[in-house]
Amino acid sequence: MKIRRYIEKDFQEIKRTWEEIGWLEPKEDKEIFKFFVESSRILVVELNGAAEASVFSISGDLNYNGVQLPLHAVAAVTTSRISRKRGLAGKVTALALAREAAAGKKIAGLGMFEQGYYNLLGFGTGPYEHHLSFDPAELKVPRSNRPPCRLGAKDFQEMHENRLQRLQKHGSVNLYPPEVTRTDLLYKDSGFGLGFRDPDSGELTHHFWISPDDVEHGPYNVLWTVYRENKQFLELLSLLRDLGDQINLVRIAEPSGVQLQDFLRQPMKSSRISKGGKFEVKNRALAYWQLRILDLEGCINNTHLPGREVSFNLELMDPVEKFLPPEEEWQGIGGEYHLTIGAESEIKRGLQNNLPTLKASVGAFTRMWMGALPATGLGLSGDFCASEDLLEELDQVFLMPKPRLDWDF
Ligand SMILES: CC(C)(COP(=O)(O)OP(=O)(O)OC[C@H]1O[C@@H](n2cnc3c(N)ncnc32)[C@H](O)[C@@H]1OP(=O)(O)O)[C@@H](O)C(=O)NCCC(=O)NCCS
Repeated sequence: MKIRRYIEKDFQEIKRTWEEIGWLEPKEDKEIFKFFVESSRILVVELNGAAEASVFSISGDLNYNGVQLPLHAVAAVTTSRISRKRGLAGKVTALALAREAAAGKKIAGLGMFEQGYYNLLGFGTGPYEHHLSFDPAELKVPRSNRPPCRLGAKDFQEMHENRLQRLQKHGSVNLYPPEVTRTDLLYKDSGFGLGFRDPDSGELTHHFWISPDDVEHGPYNVLWTVYRENKQFLELLSLLRDLGDQINLVRIAEPSGVQLQDFLRQPMKSSRISKGGKFEVKNRALAYWQLRILDLEGCINNTHLPGREVSFNLELMDPVEKFLPPEEEWQGIGGEYHLTIGAESEIKRGLQNNLPTLKASVGAFTRMWMGALPATGLGLSGDFCASEDLLEELDQVFLMPKPRLDWDF
């Protein structure tokens, strides 16, 4: 087994794996895969001369309470059918974390295939995301009189730019390469976008992209809604409502700071009537993404939480260590620290006698730091231990909105 950087000859072999696992149709998707490769840094595991496992890394940033932190997005981890359960995916993903951390990334994120696997590499689960399915005709929003513009796959640059310039809240992610948006647009031929431009400059200011299950009557999956001001979100909802004479159901992720149910006429009744059907009205909650801190000093120094202040010792356990070869510069972030969290936060190596101590895994600590779960709740999980007093103090300090990635990958 050898782990190395991607070279051109790996293209067909990794593509074969993606076909084996059902991520690509054998004939049709060559372009999508090409753009995916172009947008990523790739490490491969060679087994008997062929690339049998790989990890794709994409650069971006994550909004931590208003501060943009460099992000390593773990965009795809795959192992071929003939090389499963040999530890290949674990080793290559850990190595990608080490390389990206050494290159300055402060945090890593991913969409998980299942809970538990990436915890072994130090990841912690985000909060529930809500995906609402409803009849667009039931939307209660003011009518927008101006007609939207059509958007298609050829407009990927413009839409990507609009995504990067959108209104961003705590936890929101940007992925930098435009090919990321381009591949999203190419997945389904029937996909389409609608949006609005600035009347003076012509610049795209807000839009959504839809991937229909069935073009004629839906369901329509809204893959993203992008806007710079809250009132633009209402204009996008109004556009969805205008599709409601024909389309029976749309599915949409709830944006940060908004309760979508507020905009629906009779959500409970609609849910009862549609239960079990193709056009079922419901609100699905699922926690499906994970984060982990790569650079503890970098993250703590960028933590500005006005209000209370707390100082404590931290004994941090990083399970990624055992996956890493000793020659790598970055060996995880486990160790002993003392830190202060508040309007200005700081962290130093070593423990101090007079401070209470928190013992935590990196995943659990990341969850508290992001505001995904309060310390008192994490204290029930086993890999997050401190006195009740310290847990309650931490609850009071990490008072922040729930993080929302607002960009699935
Ligand atoms: C997920 C995938 C990459 C794992 O590849 P792999 O090389 O077989 O994985 P590893 O050998 O590193 O790890 C397998 C081990 O993790 C364990 N594991 C798997 N899921 C787990 C979970 N949810 N929680 C804890 N452990 C888990 C397995 O039981 C196995 O342990 P064992 O060898 O002791 O039985 C591979 O199954 C795959 O390509 N799946 C399809 C694509 C996919 O879903 N990729 C992930 C995208 S996020």
